[in-house]
Order: sequence, then structure tokens, then C-alpha cells
Amino acid sequence: KSVVQRLWQGSASVDMLSPRLQKAVKDYMSTNKHGVSYRGRRSARVSKKRLLCEMKRKVKVMTVDGEELPFSSLGWQKIVPPLPLERLYGKGFRSCAVVTSAGAILHSGLGKEIDSHDAVLRFNSAPTKGYERDVGNKTTIRIINSQILANPNHQFNSSSLYKNVTLVAWDPAPYAVNLHKWYRNPDYNLFTPYMKYRKQFPAQPFYILHPKFIWQLWDMIQANTLENIQPNPPSSGFIGILLMMWLCEEVDVYEYIPSLRQTDLCHYHERYYDAACTLGAYHPLLYEKILIQRVKSGSNSDLWGKGKVTLPGFRNIHC
Ligand code: C5P
Repeated sequence: KSVVQRLWQGSASVDMLSPRLQKAVKDYMSTNKHGVSYRGRRSARVSKKRLLCEMKRKVKVMTVDGEELPFSSLGWQKIVPPLPLERLYGKGFRSCAVVTSAGAILHSGLGKEIDSHDAVLRFNSAPTKGYERDVGNKTTIRIINSQILANPNHQFNSSSLYKNVTLVAWDPAPYAVNLHKWYRNPDYNLFTPYMKYRKQFPAQPFYILHPKFIWQLWDMIQANTLENIQPNPPSSGFIGILLMMWLCEEVDVYEYIPSLRQTDLCHYHERYYDAACTLGAYHPLLYEKILIQRVKSGSNSDLWGKGKVTLPGFRNIHC
């Protein structure tokens, strides 16, 4: 059986990856770039209900609010948006779609279905123009990693991809979160472009996720996995899924757990092939996906045909 078939059954493991990907995973383990040290439990036996409760209890959306040093001394209370992200949409959305950038979404014809949701989340530089039939054209929130802000190729300041949406940026800080160190030495410098953009477009909601949120997600994945997961932050996809579980009553996720269209094509909008994009090398992506597979609802025909899984919003989880 292929890794993806195993994933559909919820029983995939890193030993099933190609030798090249297994080696990449091992190298990331020994490098441990972010200084991760985990002493919590490891279990894969928690029930779906308890797992959802644990997610709701342990993972709280947090953004940089300018109240903590060094941001407070740099005047960030006036730089960040006045409303916190958790309150931006009032009572939140009923139905939401999370659209991953996987190549497998090509030829899906899912565009109309995706756009019928009250809010749509997309990632990084994934376009809609030219791909409407398969991915739709509505974007409510875009999660962007720090490379998008730091790398001039993305034309972050001028590209229409980043206009008329809520932006949520993130960058991996050290595991023992120290905001001073992070500010001095982010993975990619997102702070300067963030300040510049906020001053230029103050009316556009634009947040930076607090690194504590990122590592809470990581801890939760590790706590529910027997193997040691990669000591690197979860993928933007997983971050976005959990964010939408806070903002929405119901979340449909597209092509995160791959459909029968599964392919090594990394992104639907680029001609670059690498199985790592779907199965992970740097990010603990395979483990993230096993976890989502354990808590999802939705039929197998939606999964195989559309790459769609449905997750409850946390407001509908009563613990
Ligand atoms: O590559 P990028 O991070 O921009 O893609 C957005 C998210 O979509 C990823 O973080 C990952 O969770 C998901 N993805 C995937 N399979 C792919 C490409 C992306 O699951 N082939």
C-alpha cells in the first residue's frame, strides 16, 4: 500500500516514505534548529472527542499584540490592528473552507463549492486568477510565512494577492520562546516589512502569529504521536486549519489529506515536483495529517473524490 492509502486508514508512518525523505527527516531531527526539547506525554490512543477537546483547551490563537517586550518599547501597540484577530469577525463564520496549495487540486472542479463557504482561507502566494474552476476566487484570510514578506520576488507590497484580505504572518521563533531573540534573529526578517506595510495600509487587518501559538500546535501533535516528530514548526496548512477551527462553526479542508488525484506536483500553480510538499520533510506534515485524519468527519467519497475533510469549529465542541 502507498503512504497515502495508509494515511486514509490513519496508520501512516515515516518509515513508509522514500529513503530520500527519510534521510531528510533524520537530518532535521539531528540539526534541531529551533532547540526543541519535549518532555510531555506521547500517546496515539486518545479518542476523537478527547483529541478535539485537547485541541480546544491547549491551543489558543495568539497574535503579537504589542504589549510584550521588545514590541511594547518599539511602539507596536499602535502598529498592530486595533481589534485582535479573535474578535475581528465578531461571532465568527458559519462555514469555512481551507484551500491547500497542493497540485492535486488541479482538475478538481471544486471552485464553486469552495466559494460557497462564508470564509475562505488560502496560503502564501497561491493565486486564484486562472485557476478559478478548481480553487474558486474568494479569499477572506491569507496565511503567509515570513519568506513572503522578506523575499523581494514575492512583491509583497505591490502584488494584488495580498490586498483586500486579512493577512496572518508567521515565523518560527526558538522553541523556548524568547521574543527578544526572535526580534533580533527571525528566520526571515518579517518585522521591518510588517511595520512598513502597516503604515502604508493601516486599514487592512494584518497580524503576526505569536510563536507560542505555533509551538502549542507542535506540542499537541507530538503529544498525540508515538514517534518523535520533526523538531520544526507545523506547516502553514495545519496552522490555518486550527485558526479556522477557532473562527468558524464548520471547516471544510481541501487537498490536505490527498484525494485520488494525489501527485508529486508540489503546488497547483508551479511546475515543481517533490513528494516532500505533500508528505513532509522539514515540517512534521505526515503527523499533522494523521492527526487531522483522526478527528475528521465526512465521507470517504468526499475524501477520495474531493480531497475534502470536515472538521467541527471549537464553538461546537463541548467538553
Ligand atoms: O507550500 P505552502 O506552505 O505554501 O502550502 C500551503 C499548505 O498546503 C502547506 O503548508 C501544506 O499544509 C499544504 N500542502 C499540502 N500538500 C502539498 C502542498 C501544500 O498538504 N502538495
